[in-house]
Amino acid sequence: MTVIPAHWYNIRADIPLDVPDDRPSPFASGTLRPQLPAKLIRQEMSRAREVPIPAEVLERYAAWRPTPLHRARALERDLDTAARIYFKYEGGNISGSHKLNTAIAQAHYYAAAGATRLATGTGAGQWGTAMVAAGAMFGLETVVYMTGHSYRTKPYRRTLMEMLGGRVVPVEGNLAAALAAALHACEDPGTRFCTGSGESYSLLHQTVIGQEAVAQLELLGEWPDVVVASLGAGSNFGGTAFPFVGAARRGEAPAVRAVAVEPSACPKLTRGQYRYDFTDSSRETPMQKMYTLGHAFATPEIHAGGLRYHGTSKLVSALYADGAIEGAAYGQPEVFAAAVRFAQLEGIVPAPESAHAVHGAVVEALRSRAEKQPRVILFCLSGHGQLDLAAYAEYAGGRLVDVVPDDAEIERSLAQIPQDTAAARR
Ligand SMILES: Cc1ncc(COP(=O)(O)O)c(C=O)c1O
Repeated sequence: MTVIPAHWYNIRADIPLDVPDDRPSPFASGTLRPQLPAKLIRQEMSRAREVPIPAEVLERYAAWRPTPLHRARALERDLDTAARIYFKYEGGNISGSHKLNTAIAQAHYYAAAGATRLATGTGAGQWGTAMVAAGAMFGLETVVYMTGHSYRTKPYRRTLMEMLGGRVVPVEGNLAAALAAALHACEDPGTRFCTGSGESYSLLHQTVIGQEAVAQLELLGEWPDVVVASLGAGSNFGGTAFPFVGAARRGEAPAVRAVAVEPSACPKLTRGQYRYDFTDSSRETPMQKMYTLGHAFATPEIHAGGLRYHGTSKLVSALYADGAIEGAAYGQPEVFAAAVRFAQLEGIVPAPESAHAVHGAVVEALRSRAEKQPRVILFCLSGHGQLDLAAYAEYAGGRLVDVVPDDAEIERSLAQIPQDTAAARR
């Protein structure tokens, strides 16, 4: 029987990564202070392989963890592939996605540090829902700044957040703009800013997914050739893939490919640059070295709102720069086609973000067939799409298009990043 891991796993213990320090913003006014609890700061910097999970967090995880690992046999048959496709399902909690794994940990640490209210930004609404739910568990009120597109197209996300006691405020623009609005809310004493999924501690918290999957596959006598997960700010991919990549690096398991799937509308890894940039559009918080399209990138309004982030985690970025992981970008229509096929065959409606991983797994399974290699594929079905049916209706009505930025657009956005922070400060 698989149990919930007693600790989070830190890949920095196994891979000596060059993760450059954050740099202060040349535009910092000094009024915006996220005020991270000391425990989260320590986790952000930690090199320890194992970070114990507090008992209060484990108790909450036990409500839905360990999450199930399924084999997608009907999909395998339909693809006529000898590949064995497994998926880890993270949609079985009130937030409907993996986001609750770190939201609970963060709410626990903020409450312990004396916060009374949390402010955060959300793209598709999954993170906002998770933060409101987790805040309520630890007696915190949560205000969620939601991108206007998702606010309008996902009304039931808003209903769910309000039902759980949260306040939802629409913000026009991308996730960076919503995060900036949440940061400003922290000028109010007692309110702390919670960031979603790009910080190293968020990736750490999400490793419960990969650690459980390692144990579940071991029970079946399996080890994946490839692990696939969708990439937003990074915690879903990091949490799923890092325990596998780390075990292989330690020499305890065979090599594994790890593929981060992003939308072709927001291709930070595959078409962005590895450089210092702002993590939100306030331009006041420290700059991080990451793969980015530029904080001013006008991300097309695709349905996978959680993947519409201009950059990605510095840990994922450092691993990509190191050649330790791979990236792939796919368009909305092919991603939705894979999601509909998956729903019909396997009985779960994927969230549009998770649908990117479904398509990534399908691509790998077809490659396995073409190369006559019966590979083992694991992907993370990071959330369900029962609140995203408006997007599926658009797809069914033939109204879903792919929006791929051209090179000039990306260059224009990248040109707005200060070239060198030290120089920009002078
Ligand atoms: C269902 C789902 N899957 C994946 C992602 C991407 O996750 P991350 O930001 O952790 O990379 C999101 C982000 O909102 C999501 O909601």
